[in-house]
Formats: sequence, C-alpha cells, structure tokens
Amino acid sequence: MPAILAIESSCDETSAAVCVDGAILSNVIANQTIHEAYGGVVPELASRVHQQNIVPAVQQALFNAKVSKNDIDAVAFTRGPGLLGSLLVGVSFAKAFALARQIPLIEVNHMQAHILAHFIAEKKPAFPFICLTVSGGHTQIVLVKDYFDMEIIGQTLDDAAGEAMDKTSKILGLPYPGGPLIDKNARNGNPDAYQFPEPQIPGFDFSFSGLKTSILYFIRDNVAANPNFIQEHMNDICASVEKRIATILLNKLKRAAQQYGIKHVALAGGVSANTGLRNLLQQMGEQKGWEVFIPKFEYCTDNAAMIAIAGYHKYLKGEFIGQDVAPLARMPF
Ligand code: KG4
Ligand code: ZN
Repeated sequence: MPAILAIESSCDETSAAVCVDGAILSNVIANQTIHEAYGGVVPELASRVHQQNIVPAVQQALFNAKVSKNDIDAVAFTRGPGLLGSLLVGVSFAKAFALARQIPLIEVNHMQAHILAHFIAEKKPAFPFICLTVSGGHTQIVLVKDYFDMEIIGQTLDDAAGEAMDKTSKILGLPYPGGPLIDKNARNGNPDAYQFPEPQIPGFDFSFSGLKTSILYFIRDNVAANPNFIQEHMNDICASVEKRIATILLNKLKRAAQQYGIKHVALAGGVSANTGLRNLLQQMGEQKGWEVFIPKFEYCTDNAAMIAIAGYHKYLKGEFIGQDVAPLARMPF
C-alpha cells in the first residue's frame, strides 16, 4: 500500500496531494491571485508565491489525508514542462523531503499527468485511447498506448486553446484568467450569433493565431460602429468564440479517432473544464458511439492529484530518479 506525496508547481497553482494505494486521499490547491493585476502570470512572482505556499499546502494535504509524513513512501513531483522558477520550488521541496525521509523520488511529466488523471476515477479508459489535452500552454491530440507510452499525433503550431480563450477575454476587457469567464458568459449567450473562421491546417495539428486576429478585427470594427458593442453583446460573443474553439478542437479529434479506429476518447487539461466543450464532446460521443471520459472539475486544471496518480504508476514500475534531477521548462514525453 504505497503512500505517495505529490507536488505540482509548474505554473501558478501550488498543489500537494496524498495518494495511498492508488486512491487520492487529499488534493490541496493554493491559487495565486497576485497575477490578476497584470493580466497574465508573472513568472518571478509565481515562484515567490510558490515558496510561501508550498509548506502550508503540503501540511494541509497530509492533515486532510490523515497520513503522517513518516508514513510517506515516495515523493512525486512535476519536473516539467512549465515555468522554470516555479518548477524549481516544487522540485527543490520534493528533493529535500525525500532526502530528509530517505525515500525515493519520482519525476512526472505534467502533460502526461493531465492524461493520467483519468485513472483517478472508478471508470477508466482502456488502452489504446485518444486524449485531447487542452491547457494554457498546450493543445495536443495524444494516442495513449499505455501509462507512459504516449504519442502526440497532433498539436498546435502557435497558440494553445487556453491561450486563445485568455487572449479573447483580454480583447473583451475581462480579467485574467479569462477562460472561466468566457465559459460563464457563454452560458447566457447564443453560440451561433457570430461566425468565426475555422483554420485549414493539414493533419491533426491546430492553429489559433488566425482566430485570435479575426476576433480582434471583429471587435475593433464593431466597436468603431458602436462603442458599447462589447457590453451589449458580451454573452453572444463569448458563446460564439467558445463554440468555434470547441469545434476546431473536436473536428480534429473526430478525424483522429476515425483514422486510428478508437472508441475510447478522453479530454484533459484546464480547458476541459469548459462547459461548451464538455457538452459538445458528449454529443459527439453519443453520435459516434464513443465511450467519453471527462475528468471531474478539480482534476481538469492544475492539481497534484494527477501527479500523485502518475507517481503511483511509476512507483509500481520501480521508476525512481536521483537527487541530481533538475526541472525542465520543456519536457518531451
Ligand atoms: O491545465 P491548466 O490549469 O494550466 C496549464 O497547464 O496551462 O490550464 C489553464 C487554462 C487557462 O488558459 C484557462 O483560461 C483555461 O485553462 N480554463 C478554461 C476554463 N477553466 C480553465 N477555459 C475555458 N473554460 C473554462 N471553464
Ligand atoms: Zn496543466
């Protein structure tokens, strides 16, 4: 019954979780609000806040799980990809904890962990399955052959889906992070009110920079004609943008599932919290006869529970890493 302490600090959430024998007993997430004033994550501030949050987050995670630090068998941590300074805080903490307790360290790839979050739930996808991973920094269609045997078959050539959400919200004058606000406004809007173009990119790759420019010009032209255009049509704009981003993602996902003959289809990453995307994927799954896997909200955006479950499966394989490990801003699978 291995007890694993997991640490996530790749961006602006400081998170700690405890997992015993593959069951998540706690998942503490400390959000950083300091970035709101700047309209985006400020890396230097993020690492300083991680330093303040990490010890209380771990203490709370152990407390909630009712597990003593003396009973932890291994420490799993996000090695990358992410902001180097932020990662450094989590990696250093994990190394110190493991050294002090004389227990092994387990490195975890953040993007793999988003996918492996599906193995927290009772209902688990069967290998091979396809996962659309959509976050603030990544947009990937991944063929998942085994826990740590994953192949990226499509990805964004420029902006990530979450970035497209966040940049749109910035154009609309909404605070950071904009994705959840676009979601909230879209619930009261008409998704067919405005049409935005679907980029024509070959294969399973994506591009969102053209969409961002078309939204920018659309807003500029309409605001020139009516200075109150955004305020008067906020919900419809959000609903239309959300639908376009979701359909760009899902049209590629549909073709990938067809080409690979796969019926188990999963969604992961921060943008998988988006209501419109979740609903449209469910509908597509029903049409196509897929089994659809969508994580619980708390496992969509960054969290240490997903690091813990990934760490648990590495623990079972005996895959540990030495004390000389360093974080990686870029980390391929
Ligand atoms: O996976 P994540 O928490 O962090 C990264 O690894 O990047 O993803 C964060 C992204 C942000 O772009 C945020 O705006 C977006 O996920 N997001 C959403 C929603 N919740 C978070 N986008 C749309 N609708 C949401 N409900
Ligand atoms: Zn993430």
